[in-house]
Amino acid sequence: MGEILSINDTNITRAGDALRGGGLVAMPTETVYGLAADATNGQAVARIYEAKGRPSFNPLIIHVSDLDDAQKWGQFNAAAIELARAFWPGPLTLVVPIMTPKTEGATLSDLVTAGLDSIAIRVPAHPAAQDLIKAAGVPLAAPSANKSGSISPTSPAHVHDSLGGAVDYILAGGSCAVGLESTIIDCTRDAPSLLRPGGITAEQIALTLDMDESALTLAASDTDDTAPKSPGLLLKHYAPSIPVRLKAYYVKQDEALLAFGSTKFMSVEGGGALTDLPDTQMQNLSEGGDLYEAAANLFAMMRALDNDAGHKRIAVMDVPDIGLGAAINDRLRRAAS
Ligand code: TXA
Ligand code: MG
Repeated sequence: MGEILSINDTNITRAGDALRGGGLVAMPTETVYGLAADATNGQAVARIYEAKGRPSFNPLIIHVSDLDDAQKWGQFNAAAIELARAFWPGPLTLVVPIMTPKTEGATLSDLVTAGLDSIAIRVPAHPAAQDLIKAAGVPLAAPSANKSGSISPTSPAHVHDSLGGAVDYILAGGSCAVGLESTIIDCTRDAPSLLRPGGITAEQIALTLDMDESALTLAASDTDDTAPKSPGLLLKHYAPSIPVRLKAYYVKQDEALLAFGSTKFMSVEGGGALTDLPDTQMQNLSEGGDLYEAAANLFAMMRALDNDAGHKRIAVMDVPDIGLGAAINDRLRRAAS
């Protein structure tokens, strides 16, 4: 665990294989080191949250090779294309509407988007990051490679101190040239807005788009509550449209069930067996009680039960508040409140 690898073809291949196998690799980028996992593998993405000790599921940035690659996962409007052409590869992240999943091929885990219908995408400039993305052959979800609440790492030693025990490999790509996270621009609406200042200045963005710098930040702070003012903080989170009842040990007649683990001892109010419930009314996060599997299934199963199948509420079985369970419970509490 946590083996530090120098940058060469053999090691990039090893790290790419580890990623394809569901592992975690600390990857150098020009901004900060990223904690990378296959963005199409929900259980691998769950490991990111566990390694960081993140108490909640914040949406993550996916890292891809180029604009063509990016357009497989997100829908780019004219402004987004212009910004991508001007600043990629480089320290710029674009938030765009997610591409509706195709019937064939891999889809992004919705742990990456935390259930939102937009996706944050970046093309990093660091050659090792570029090579790693190609070797892995999948988009890489990567937050900064530090424990939650501590400072973003700009050298392999920082990563090793913070997350050494939790990653498979640390690719030692030297110190980060920019040393500051990427600038995040929201391009989901007609008027682009600045969500996080970073490696590319607001002035550079405004110049490229031929707009007023103040308009960039104005758009982000208007009163429209669909505009995330500060990413991760005021970001609108996905929640089911019907009420959620937590720590349920029985199911009422008008409820669907989001189960966790064995349902042997769950009862149905007024009789009737749980096994009679159709998929539209019952989903199990993980029959074996595996928190990685549960995290990977969480958003998709909430959506599956948030339907018109006749029930008025979603009852959720108790999920232990340990490890990834803390982030799962955080999200369930938000859904219930
Ligand atoms: O420079 C960087 O961007 C680094 C390197 C590793 O690429 N990554 C990074 O990731 O800073 P992270 O997870 O620490 O920050 C990602 C930010 C969060 O504030 C998150 O809320 C925001 O991106 N974000 C992700 N998806 C979003 C979305 N769909 N809408 C709005 N904000 C989003
Ligand atoms: Mg961070």
